[in-house]
Amino acid sequence: MTDPAPRRCLVLGGSGALGAAIVRALRGEGAAVALTYHTREAEARALASEVGEATVLEADLGRAGPAERVVDEAAEALGGLDVLVHAAAVSRTAAGIAEADALGQPLSAIDATAWDETLAVNARSAFLAVRRFAARADGEHRGDDGDGGGGEVVLVGSIDGLKPLPAPVHYAASKAALAGMTFAFAKELGPRGFRVNLVAPGILEDGISRGLPDELREEYLRHCGLRRLGRLDEVASVVAWFALRNTYATGQVVTLDGALS
Ligand SMILES: NC(=O)c1ccc[n+]([C@@H]2O[C@H](COP(=O)([O-])OP(=O)(O)OC[C@H]3O[C@@H](n4cnc5c(N)ncnc54)[C@H](OP(=O)(O)O)[C@@H]3O)[C@@H](O)[C@H]2O)c1
Repeated sequence: MTDPAPRRCLVLGGSGALGAAIVRALRGEGAAVALTYHTREAEARALASEVGEATVLEADLGRAGPAERVVDEAAEALGGLDVLVHAAAVSRTAAGIAEADALGQPLSAIDATAWDETLAVNARSAFLAVRRFAARADGEHRGDDGDGGGGEVVLVGSIDGLKPLPAPVHYAASKAALAGMTFAFAKELGPRGFRVNLVAPGILEDGISRGLPDELREEYLRHCGLRRLGRLDEVASVVAWFALRNTYATGQVVTLDGALS
């Protein structure tokens, strides 16, 4: 018996804290990986060296063209694409307002531009990338799990899109959009062999939530069953399970918030 060919995975936002953990988890299981960065090129290249081999691609996912182009570039570099992971996100504020200040006054810190930029990176780019992935994969996927083709999509959401929590409104809306997309994509693409799932973490030890005020973190811990923040590798291992082992779960939202109530 020969080993099955490695799954070919694209991680959008692989230069981020969680994206990097996902890249490590996928490479640790022998997957072939392409990852994107927007501003942190040095970190992305250092990560590629650390994991032995990975294709590093630049993409401003706030713009429509790159969100689609990067799927083609990854497929070309890896000789096809089996898995798409979306782990890129921002929480923009109006010009002149620091992100840290926006945590206390979210509504006044969000204007139309901040809304558009946040929704474009967090939600629209996921729609565009998945649409391109499905269009390509229809023609090329080898269906190595015997299911007749398709592919695996794992979107990274947040509990901010699922529960009433003190979060910037546009960020929460973008994360709720990912949940809606997960349901609709699962239905539309299921007959073509694609599975689409959402992993929605609570506050993690690092990453986009690193600037949260201590009071918010303490309040969170009081309501968290496990009484601790999630680790990046804990979320990454769930994403990697979906990416590499899933055969039947689709249209599902998996919250990783330590039982927040
Ligand atoms: N950390 C948490 O506590 C937490 C909790 C719940 C959900 N999440 C979710 O987990 C995912 C990863 O977040 P993280 O914690 O790893 O945050 P992070 O460290 O800030 O990483 C964010 C990623 O998004 C990329 N990105 C931002 N703007 C972009 C743009 N215009 N074009 C392309 N890429 C862009 C960044 O690229 P560059 O750095 O190269 O610019 C980076 O790769 C996000 O979906 C986030 O909402 C995180």
